[in-house]
Amino acid sequence: IAQMILWALVGYGLGSIPFGMLVARVMGLGNLRDIGSGNIGATNVLRTGNKTAAALTLLLDGGKGVVAVLLARAFAPEDSVQLAALAAMLGHCYPIWLGFRGGKGVATFFGIWLALAWPVGLACCALWLAAAAVTRISSMGALVAAAGSTLCAVFLGYGTALIFGGLVTILVFWRHRDNIKRIRAGTESRIGQKS
Ligand code: G3P
Repeated sequence: IAQMILWALVGYGLGSIPFGMLVARVMGLGNLRDIGSGNIGATNVLRTGNKTAAALTLLLDGGKGVVAVLLARAFAPEDSVQLAALAAMLGHCYPIWLGFRGGKGVATFFGIWLALAWPVGLACCALWLAAAAVTRISSMGALVAAAGSTLCAVFLGYGTALIFGGLVTILVFWRHRDNIKRIRAGTESRIGQKS
């Protein structure tokens, strides 16, 4: 139990680093809360018009998911690896540093799946790209990838990640509830549109 708490804290701590906020601040792009959706993720950083900053945010937010899984895999008991990954997602979505008002977990979601089970991670990236290419809506890519992830896990031989995958999917959908409303109302912003 002590081990599990420790690895949940390690995952949470890594996940809670708000790289989008930090990148935007360091690169002088302003406060993300005042831009576009107000979210701290790469999609909203892109709305500042700075593609390098958006790519950096994507890599760093994804990277913290990768690091959480790889650290846990190297040093934690097997049953704590998925826990560390889930905690990293929760850290990103509910960071203590930002009064628990965090992001939507998409980049971190890709990171944890790529590190946990790379075929599932690649399938999720492909789903995101396909849905975003068709709709030009980033959140649509995220929802399709999240919805597909658990199915991909089962079909690609990672059935042991069923409950974990289901929880991650629910979290991503929950964090996108405003986006879902906007998609349904036809008002969700398209990729390439500025704030
Ligand atoms: O990565 C989050 C994305 O799916 C939606 O971001 O800023 O459009 O709410 P945003």
